[in-house]
Amino acid sequence: MFNVVLYQPEIPPNTGNIIRLCANTGSHLHLIRPLGFDIGEKAVRRAGMDYALLANVHAWGSLQECLTSLGSPRWFAVSTKGSVRYDSVRFVKADTFVFGPETRGLPTQIIEDCPLAQRLRIPMREGNRSLNLSNAAAVLVYEAWRQLGFLEA
Ligand SMILES: C[S@@+](CC[C@H](N)C(=O)[O-])C[C@H]1O[C@@H](n2cnc3c(N)ncnc32)[C@H](O)[C@@H]1O
Repeated sequence: MFNVVLYQPEIPPNTGNIIRLCANTGSHLHLIRPLGFDIGEKAVRRAGMDYALLANVHAWGSLQECLTSLGSPRWFAVSTKGSVRYDSVRFVKADTFVFGPETRGLPTQIIEDCPLAQRLRIPMREGNRSLNLSNAAAVLVYEAWRQLGFLEA
C-alpha cells in the first residue's frame, strides 16, 4: 500500500509502534541507517518489539538507495518545516512518507531535495515544537489510507 521510511530513527519504542502501524495498515516499513539501536533478534526482543513483525522491515544504507529500489515513487518529506498541510494532498497507492529522527528532524538537504508541494506538515497549536514520531506517522498513514477507503492492499 504505502511506504513508510524512517530516516535514522533513534528510539526503539517509536520504531516498535510504527512496525505495528505498518502491519495494521498494510504499509511497508523502511529504515535508513545508521539506526540508534540494534535490530538483531535478541536486542529487538529486549526492547519489547515484536520480532516476527520485523521480518517485513527493510534497512537501507541511504535514502537514495531505498527510493531507487522502490522504483522512485512519489515521496513526501514529513517535517515540522513542511509547507503543505498533510490533509490537502490526494494520496495514491505506493506513496512514500519519509520521517526524520526524533532529536534532529530531517536534514535540510533531504527537505530541499523534495519538491515543495511534497513537504508535508501536520498542524499544531502555536508554540509547540513537534509531535512524537510514531504519532506523526500514524496521523499521515491513516489519512492516506482513509482517502483510499481503507482498501485492503
Ligand atoms: C520528534 S520529531 C523531530 C523534531 C525536530 N526538532 C523537528 O523539528 O523536525 C520527529 C519526526 O516526526 C515528524 N513530525 C513530528 N511533528 C510533525 C509535524 N507537526 N508535522 C510534520 N512532521 C512532524 C517529522 O518527520 C519529524 O522529523
